[in-house]
Amino acid sequence: MKKTIVITGGAGFIGSHVVRRFVNKYPEYHIINLDALTYAGNLENLRDIEGAENYEFLKADITNIADVEALFKSRNIHSVIHLAAESHVDRSISNPIDFVMTNVVGTVVLMNAYKAYGDTQNGRFYHVSTDEVYGTLGDEGKFTETTPYSPNSPYSASKASSDHFVRAYHETFKLPVVISNCSNNYGSHQFPEKLIPLMIHNIKNEKALPVYGKGENIRDWLWVEDHASAIDAVFHQGRNGETYNIGGNNEWKNIDLVHKLCEIMDSKLGKAAGESAKLITYVTDRAGHDFRYAIDASKIEAELGWKPSVNFAEGFEKTIDWYLSNDEWLSNVTSGNYQSYYENLYSKR
Ligand code: NAD
Ligand code: TYD
Repeated sequence: MKKTIVITGGAGFIGSHVVRRFVNKYPEYHIINLDALTYAGNLENLRDIEGAENYEFLKADITNIADVEALFKSRNIHSVIHLAAESHVDRSISNPIDFVMTNVVGTVVLMNAYKAYGDTQNGRFYHVSTDEVYGTLGDEGKFTETTPYSPNSPYSASKASSDHFVRAYHETFKLPVVISNCSNNYGSHQFPEKLIPLMIHNIKNEKALPVYGKGENIRDWLWVEDHASAIDAVFHQGRNGETYNIGGNNEWKNIDLVHKLCEIMDSKLGKAAGESAKLITYVTDRAGHDFRYAIDASKIEAELGWKPSVNFAEGFEKTIDWYLSNDEWLSNVTSGNYQSYYENLYSKR
């Protein structure tokens, strides 16, 4: 009998890479991709595996107790890999309540259903989280698994809260859980509201490149496929009740990253050197903007033998090439047309 694994948020950026990896690599699993298809969920991301025999899509909202319970009652769910979330900091500043609902309430709804009906003897509940729960760093140091939580944005507060609920379910109910906290991801299929795809899209369209504040904030960038391989390692070898930090050991000041991107785009688009950089526009800083994130990933490296597979130059170039050769994806996403993909695909079933 195949083990049935629910991956939530599988139509999103990171989730689609995780679903693809698990469907292709583990024919012994049956993967249910549970996703509400919000603005950030796009089934076109999974076009290549949508017909796979060990894959199934279920449109459901994780805050809907009846729908989530119905799934867990009717199927023998071995494990959950939980990625569904509201994920964008700027949106959390303009509309915090959605973040509380999906990230906090949705996580508890899922755990309740898994606790009541899932295979908690053999499987586990894996919560995929962010390094932003630790708050901000100054010039020195890195986040470790024991860094105290100190979230500064409504997004990170909601993720920190859900992490606490996951830990609490382990302590209180002995739910088999594992958590990972990862740094900023980059790669294909990322919604162009996040820094890198937004800048690529704007350079292509010769629009202003909005750099927040002075552009001096620092992020630690990890290729999304390497996050997916880390999730694979944590899911299979991580210890219950533990947290694993995942990062790229790859810190970039935003303005340096944008300049690097402009330089590569100039050459790929056949523009004169310095042309794209003219589009850089400094804009009002994000409220509560965390200065620096950096991950100490030595625990996952030592315990699980994980490390990133590509260096940044290679991953960044692959990423830029992907957006440049997937014009239709980018224009569907920015125009909202991708939302009709689901209707076209599923209304016929
Ligand atoms: P994303 O915004 O691209 O995708 C989120 C997915 O969740 C979408 O498919 C969306 O439709 C789905 N979703 C949202 N609300 C839902 C709901 N109520 N019910 C069911 N599905 C719902 O996000 P992402 O960047 O792929 O992030 C995935 C996870 O990884 C999140 O939990 C995020 O906190 C975490 N994370 C992201 C990063 C990053 O750099 N993007 C880094 C570390 C951790
Ligand atoms: P983002 O991709 O939103 O990820 P996060 O806020 O979760 O780290 O932003 C990455 C960095 O880029 C962050 O310091 C904010 C900055 N930024 C800009 O300067 N301009 C932009 O248009 C965006 C979206 C982000």
